[in-house]
Amino acid sequence: MDNADFPIRPAIPPDAEGTRRVLVETWHDTYDPLLGTENVAEITGQWHSVEVLSQQIGLPDASFLVAGHSGRLIGHAFARMSQPGVLFLSRLYVRPSWQRRGVGTRMLGAVVERHPEAARMRLNVESENGKGVAFYRRHGFAVAGERTEEGLRSLQMEKLLR
Ligand SMILES: CC(C)(COP(=O)(O)OP(=O)(O)OC[C@H]1O[C@@H](n2cnc3c(N)ncnc32)[C@H](O)[C@@H]1OP(=O)(O)O)[C@@H](O)C(=O)NCCC(=O)NCCS
Repeated sequence: MDNADFPIRPAIPPDAEGTRRVLVETWHDTYDPLLGTENVAEITGQWHSVEVLSQQIGLPDASFLVAGHSGRLIGHAFARMSQPGVLFLSRLYVRPSWQRRGVGTRMLGAVVERHPEAARMRLNVESENGKGVAFYRRHGFAVAGERTEEGLRSLQMEKLLR
């Protein structure tokens, strides 16, 4: 699929609502089986409110990217320099109906391209999120640590960028 089919760009303030929709839909699809629908609704209601997302758009040392198609957002990535040389990927989400079509790969590449100062990329992923873990392994990330919180095990994964 050609990148022209889903252009990827830095978000602007009016994208906050579309990004919220991408996150709510994809969070339910991904995490309901792990956390339960009610918990997911509560978490995503707090973390992905238009207010919170609006504050993150345009933050310095960060990339808040969106992928669109036919006037609708279909994917979102948010990454931030967390310490010198380390880029932390907080979110990478592709709407379920658009998954496995290269959108995640292109967004990951776009994030890395925007941070030539990053030598290393780091992220956390639930160990039971098979899709996420498979995707990151495919892109050369390796497990660097793990932790268990409220019964859920998450993996810290890392990759040397340059
Ligand atoms: C993880 C995610 C961002 C990947 O984006 P995507 O656009 O679906 O991925 P791509 O099409 O670029 O896939 C690239 C490779 O990743 C791996 N992969 C992606 N989805 C996979 C799946 N469901 N099962 C196994 N491997 C998978 C494959 O190796 C794939 O290459 P292939 O299709 O040639 O085999 C997307 O599936 C998603 O939004 N998942 C839910 C949210 C999430 O888990 N985010 C990450 C946690 S922060």
